[in-house]
Formats: sequence, structure tokens, C-alpha cells
Amino acid sequence: MDKIEQIKSVFHDELAACSTIAAVQELKVKYLGKTGELTGLLKSIKDLSAEERPSFGAKVNELRNLMEAVLAEKLDELKVAELQRRLQEERIDVSLTATKPWGALHPVTLIQNEITELMVAMGFEVLSGPEIETDYYNFQALNIPEDHPARDMQDTFYITDSILLRTQTSAMQARLMEKKKPPIKVICPGKVFRSDSDASHSPVFHQIEGLVVDKNITLCDLKGTLEYIAARMFGENTKVRFRPSFFPFTEPSVEVDVTCSNCGGKGCSLCKGTGWIELLGAGMVNPCVLENCGIDSKKYNGFAFGIGMDRFAMIKYGIPDIRLLFENDQRFLKQFGK
Ligand code: DAH
Repeated sequence: MDKIEQIKSVFHDELAACSTIAAVQELKVKYLGKTGELTGLLKSIKDLSAEERPSFGAKVNELRNLMEAVLAEKLDELKVAELQRRLQEERIDVSLTATKPWGALHPVTLIQNEITELMVAMGFEVLSGPEIETDYYNFQALNIPEDHPARDMQDTFYITDSILLRTQTSAMQARLMEKKKPPIKVICPGKVFRSDSDASHSPVFHQIEGLVVDKNITLCDLKGTLEYIAARMFGENTKVRFRPSFFPFTEPSVEVDVTCSNCGGKGCSLCKGTGWIELLGAGMVNPCVLENCGIDSKKYNGFAFGIGMDRFAMIKYGIPDIRLLFENDQRFLKQFGK
């Protein structure tokens, strides 16, 4: 009986000293395993008298139950502690601030927003149309029949013989005039596509079409409108000049230049020494385009213009290569961040 008490006391001391799961499992083997201390005690029962045996046996069993219970309890305790330790160690601090994402409007978007705002203030409506267009609206309705040499002015991406990626927002002119009757005062910003790529051409670029149809519209109205846009976009002292040109859907047609915003008209590398920068194409709506859309060209006339927004951005911000606009290089884009 003394031996039992002695084992029990040593066991408790040893258990208290255990700080790992492995140590507790080792202790369990040491006392309860096949060759463990308690098994040894039970074996010594044969040396006892018949009357001593039952109470000794009961005492050893009692100790075994106690050991099993406290060992299990200690294991549970250590497992919980271990879990806590791992949770602490592997913890992810979700409250940590991430790197601040950067975002800003693209220079072409800035130009589009600026022009749109100006035009809306002048009473223009803003509409958009399909980028996948029919040959009819992109060319035929605009007085560019099949096999017309003017088609060579634009390198077209055809999808089928009669469906294409629009090469100009002018495609919206006929769509619009078929539905709306004068007075018409509309701008159509959007993407256009041509098979062309170098420092000043991109296969996708952006235009704003302007169209005004009403009674007694003159070239002066066109010039006044464009002068206002140029002054607002490039500075109050900007001058505008018209040069005769040709577009099948306008008659007369003009190429519009503005005084170079870089040198003020003296001549520099941006304007190639001329003092002028070519800005856009425009003209008086060709009467046959009005007639194609069911508008009486004897009663109504109008003007149209096509702004290249990428070109505007390049002139306004001094961007030397159009491809910079499409490369998504943040070092470039961050310079316009607002
Ligand atoms: N659509 C022409 C182009 O992309 C630009 C243009 C010229 C538009 C004259 C017009 C215009 O509305 O009147 O080259």
C-alpha cells in the first residue's frame, strides 16, 4: 500500500512537470504501458496473501482510473494550449491597410469629358452608336458608294462584305437623321477602327462627331462653334483657320487648323515650323446625304465636324506618340492623374 501511495505521488510530480503532449504520452506509457509501473504493481499481487489481494487490487485499479483521468485531462489542456499557440502564430491581420490602389481618368477620357461638357452647354445632345456598323451607314449613306476612290482614305476592318468596324463616327450621321428631324444638334463620341499603326495612327482611336441640321445654317456657324471649342481647349488666344478639303459627305469641306499651342504660332518642332496644327475635318452637310435620310435639302442644311480625341489629347498634353495612349503604362498615365 505504501508503494501505491509512493507511485501516486511521484506520478503527480512528473505529470506536473510535463509541458508537451509528447511528454504526457511518454508518461502514460511509463505508468500504464505493458511494462509500466502499474502493471508491475499488479504482477506483485501474487506475493500477497489471499486476504490482502482484493483490497490491493482495488487500490491499484483505483489508481489506474485516476491516472487515466488526469492524463486525459492534461492532454486536453495541452491540446487546447497548442491550438491557441498555432492560432496566434498563424494569425493574419486583416485590418492591415493594403497598398493604396491608384486610379485616374485616361487622357482621352479627360478630353472627351471636357468637350462633351462644352457642347452640352451649347445645347448639343450626346448620343452613342454601334461600333460594329453596316457598310451602308459607314459609307453608302455618306455618299461613298462601293468602289468609290474615297474608300481608300480609310483602311477598313471588314467583318463580312456588308458589316465592318466603323471607321468614323460619321456613320452616326445617317442613323441619326433617319430618326430625328431638324432641328438637330448632336455630338456622338466613340471608338473607331482602322487598319493602320504608327506613331500617329492607332488601329483603335476616338472621335467625336458633331452634327447640326436646321434652317439657314452657314459656314460661319461652323467656324464660330469650332473657334469656341478651340479657345476653351487650347487657350483664349488660339486662332482657327479653314483650308479647303474634300470629304464626300460635306460640301464644301474644310480641314481645320489651330495656332500651335506650344509656340503660339511662331513655329516650332510640334507644328513643324508652320505655326499651325491640323485639328479636324468639317464642312457643310452634303445635300445628297440629307436626301438619303429623307430630309428636304431645299429647306434644311447643316454642318458637321469630326474631332479626333486622341489627336486633341496629343496636342493639348504634348504627347509625341499615339501608341502611348494604349499601352497602359502607369508611369505615363500617372502624369494626367486627377
Ligand atoms: N469622318 C472623317 C474622318 O474620320 C472626319 C470628318 C470630316 C467628319 C468632315 C465630319 C466632317 O463630320 O464633316 O476622317
